[in-house]
Amino acid sequence: MLINEKVFENKTIFITGATGTIGSSILKYIIENFYNTIKEIRVLSRDEYKLAKLMENLKNYKKVFPKLGDIRDLNSLRQYLSGVDIVIHSAALKRVEFGEYYPYELVKTNIEGTKNITDACIENKVSKVIMISTDKAVEPSSTYGATKLCAERIFIASNIDERNKFSTLFSIVRLGNVIGSRGSIFEIVKEKKQANEPINVTNKDMTRFWITTEEVSRFIVKVISTMSGGEIFIPKMTATKVIELIKTIYPSAKIIETKPRPGEKIHEKLISEYEKNVCFESEDCFVVYPEIIEEIKPSETTYLKNWKKVSNTLTFSSIDYIAKQKGKKTNLQKCKK
Ligand SMILES: NC(=O)c1ccc[n+]([C@@H]2O[C@H](COP(=O)([O-])OP(=O)(O)OC[C@H]3O[C@@H](n4cnc5c(N)ncnc54)[C@H](OP(=O)(O)O)[C@@H]3O)[C@@H](O)[C@H]2O)c1
Repeated sequence: MLINEKVFENKTIFITGATGTIGSSILKYIIENFYNTIKEIRVLSRDEYKLAKLMENLKNYKKVFPKLGDIRDLNSLRQYLSGVDIVIHSAALKRVEFGEYYPYELVKTNIEGTKNITDACIENKVSKVIMISTDKAVEPSSTYGATKLCAERIFIASNIDERNKFSTLFSIVRLGNVIGSRGSIFEIVKEKKQANEPINVTNKDMTRFWITTEEVSRFIVKVISTMSGGEIFIPKMTATKVIELIKTIYPSAKIIETKPRPGEKIHEKLISEYEKNVCFESEDCFVVYPEIIEEIKPSETTYLKNWKKVSNTLTFSSIDYIAKQKGKKTNLQKCKK
């Protein structure tokens, strides 16, 4: 996929989760690469302190505007999305363990909040909307994964909502673990290394897909340049044993194996068994093109006609990926940054 250099030309962009790892990274990427061509960027946060800090750091960028609010509140979204062209929806509650103890909080933010986003986008005739999802939404074992799966389905179905009919395009970017994100394994390992403390792992065989924030930001812009509505875009990522990651960042770490956490999987999957039937690939990514979209806008009427259909025999779990990668360079050094 390619980046269209004019993708943000004269556009107003709205970012939810802009104070978080991925939201702030895409914000930085857009400012660094497209600031001259954009019309305006609006950034949403519930937290006035984090929002004030973000704006302080961006005080020289007069086209960036703070919006204080919550995606659980449809009325403020309706107001903030007036005149917006592109939405990057990155806000979510994402801690797997909290999801098991407070599932309805995740339902309110990840499912109902996402529904508010789609409704406010349709009402405001936004052109393109991207949601950041997770491999944990694939055959989910956790409340977090299940709520993100529902959020994905809400996004896909919004394309064919009777009020919309592909006027506002909704697509999804599904990611593995993002290096350097708040509360992630990478952050924990760095903290433990500094304190010279041992590291607890819940299973020594655990594997994960991973990607850097820079790669994510670039990928999101490519997706916004390419999307035709309804797709789930999945970048081709590296998979590694979690222990190997730890050893790369903190070679002398003492590792203690504890018990599995509620909702946690040992291996992740990028694409479900069911989605394999409707999946295409290019050099840098996979695209799932759901049946409910295919029925109305067949894939051969889009850019996908030039993409390869994936073989039904492929498997997409992190453990199988590692087996396939044997001997290939995984560039684990990127985790050290
Ligand atoms: N990090 C990863 O490894 C990873 C991997 C795959 C997918 N994802 C997905 O990527 C997205 C961003 O993840 P991240 O790592 O950047 O998370 P993060 O650092 O925790 O940021 C999430 C942001 O969401 C905002 N938020 C939460 N609830 C909200 C609400 N009700 N209304 C408005 N804003 C709300 C928070 O902003 P305020 O506190 O300022 O309101 C927070 O900054 C999530 O959708 C997640 O599911 C992340």
